[in-house]
Amino acid sequence: MPLFDVYPLYNVTPVSAKGLYVYDDADNEYLDLYGGHAVISIGHAHPKYVDAVSSQVAELGFYSNAIQNPLQVQLAEKLEALSGCEGYNLFLCNSGAEANENALKLASFKTGKSRVVAFKNGFHGRTSAAVAATDNPNIIAPINAQQKVTILELNDILGVKAELEKGDVCAVIVEFIQGVGGLDQGTADFFEQVYALCQANDTMFVADEVQSGYGRSGKFFAFQHYNVTPDIISIAKGMGNGFPIGGILIHPDIEAKHGMLGTTFGGNHLACAAGLSVLNVIEDEKLMDNVNAMSEYFLKLAKSVPQIKHIKGRGLMLGLEFDFEVGELRKKLIYEHRIFTGGASNKKLLRILPPLTIRKDHINHFFEALIEALSEIEENQLQNI
Ligand SMILES: Cc1ncc(COP(=O)(O)O)c(C=O)c1O
Repeated sequence: MPLFDVYPLYNVTPVSAKGLYVYDDADNEYLDLYGGHAVISIGHAHPKYVDAVSSQVAELGFYSNAIQNPLQVQLAEKLEALSGCEGYNLFLCNSGAEANENALKLASFKTGKSRVVAFKNGFHGRTSAAVAATDNPNIIAPINAQQKVTILELNDILGVKAELEKGDVCAVIVEFIQGVGGLDQGTADFFEQVYALCQANDTMFVADEVQSGYGRSGKFFAFQHYNVTPDIISIAKGMGNGFPIGGILIHPDIEAKHGMLGTTFGGNHLACAAGLSVLNVIEDEKLMDNVNAMSEYFLKLAKSVPQIKHIKGRGLMLGLEFDFEVGELRKKLIYEHRIFTGGASNKKLLRILPPLTIRKDHINHFFEALIEALSEIEENQLQNI
């Protein structure tokens, strides 16, 4: 049976990985500055993670949410301690889209309203309401389009005010650093005013931290760079270091009712073991300090490359913008220099989302390769004139 052909694929077949490196079936070594879409947080095959997941699957990989699962409680306690989100409750699911779907559903339950406000170039996943709140008509099917969503420009505070005052908006969903869209950020003033407007209009303020969370921005959550208190925070990607796990942190003002949300696989024993070991490693290895130090180092080197026109993002969620489309550059980096980087909707932007364990020697290696690749591209262009 052929695979349903929805992904354009690079011709690389990874078979193993360790730390910052991925190895293919011909034994080539690749430096991973993409973390498989910002998923690899503590490095590939971290020994403590391998131990935790292997011993859990040998004991009890799964049982349903109808029994006591102390691992969920341990994960919630550790997450509260590391994130500083005191008093929030945790609901576990399996992916970023599912986290946002549950966030929007909960916002609708809580307020009794059904319209969502989201922002241009945002990405929130591919399920029903999450994809409707995503600003990409190509991935919204007619069944999704029936959701009531208003997409506004980032920083359009008057637009947000006008929409919220109509009284039917259950949630404003925000990425504090846009991922897929290309690393743009709203201003502090904008985020803080959106939060105040949500409070004034009985609208839930939903922070989509699926990509920016778990230390990637230099704080545990990207919203913590601002003076806001989200009602719901969605998480996934870095949470399981590759094991599918997602969740929402829910403000204590939102009351739970049995049956309100639910899932078969969410919060299973194996996922919790993976999630707990990620948090332990982030704490033990002081990875958030490493994010800030390595981000500073990366930015210093990036500023010395004249072809880089803008540097976007924060922490280890960075975008390098050029004045040309980066498709060829990314291919050169993968096939000739054996470095994984990411693309974005903004075709001129190279996305950098490395494991949070990255070191200076990895960053040096990247910039040496980038400078070489850029000069090869420039030479080819000269020859073609
Ligand atoms: C900000 C954001 N939200 C949600 C999602 C959807 O996550 P998933 O692909 O796990 O459903 C993504 C994925 O890229 C994302 O970047």
